[in-house]
Amino acid sequence: MQPETYYRDHWLDVDPERVGAYEEMFRWRPEMAPMLAPADVGEGQSVVDYGCGPGMLSLELAQRVGPSGHVHAVDINAMFLARAEEHARVAGVRDRISFHHIEKDLLPLEDASVDRIICKNVLEYVDEPVSTLRDFRRVLRPGGLVHATDSDWGMLVVEPIGPERLGRIFDAASIAYRTPLIGRKLYGLMRAAGFEEVRVGVLTGPDTQGRAAPILLNMAKYARESQQLEASEIDRFVEDVKTAIEKETYLLVLPQFLVTGAVPN
Ligand SMILES: C[S@@+](CC[C@H](N)C(=O)[O-])C[C@H]1O[C@@H](n2cnc3c(N)ncnc32)[C@H](O)[C@@H]1O
Repeated sequence: MQPETYYRDHWLDVDPERVGAYEEMFRWRPEMAPMLAPADVGEGQSVVDYGCGPGMLSLELAQRVGPSGHVHAVDINAMFLARAEEHARVAGVRDRISFHHIEKDLLPLEDASVDRIICKNVLEYVDEPVSTLRDFRRVLRPGGLVHATDSDWGMLVVEPIGPERLGRIFDAASIAYRTPLIGRKLYGLMRAAGFEEVRVGVLTGPDTQGRAAPILLNMAKYARESQQLEASEIDRFVEDVKTAIEKETYLLVLPQFLVTGAVPN
């Protein structure tokens, strides 16, 4: 993979053996409801799940729109879409979801055809976030909402890894993100794309148990693949995180920005 396009290519080349780990990481849990609340998804709506991955959120959206609504699950990774389709079949909501494999960061949908677009932890990977958001605006009906949730990697705190050390690991890992500071930029990007009534929220639920540690293991993997650091520095980082979890001295905070914009009526 080339460093210049790694941010996209690493999603096209997911090892099938890691899909289960991603499904566990993205699994919908009831305590995630505040993350989705500003999107105001309800019965009968037509909703896009942009960058749906293996479909964990698409299933929740299908429950919320009910039999009279519809979900468009969209991703660049065909294997994730196949998994998502299988999950939908098992959950008995296959007929409520259409699956769209895309190659460009554009929606294969008609102008003014949907009520909601949900985009969870995806805009950090697209080529040009403002162009993608303009395309979202094209597809939304008057009165429709876009709801994006994204991390801001510059705000990541990991105890006991100090800021300088974490910064070195992150700088190497940042080949995996097109816009690593997307969280703080979302408000401006949505305004630039023509959305109105843009609202910003931040959720900061800290992890003390290691549930979010796969994020750090992914970061270590990206740092390794960048070949910018000695392997021993990355190994030490992973070991220190694991030891801290065991000794109950670990803490991770990665704020999630929730940004919601409206298309005027
Ligand atoms: C961090 S995962 C989030 C998955 C899902 N939204 C969730 O939170 O459960 C990022 C997803 O975005 C997809 N993705 C990456 N770049 C994309 C792009 N340019 N357009 C659409 N999807 C993309 C990846 O294939 C992956 O499924």
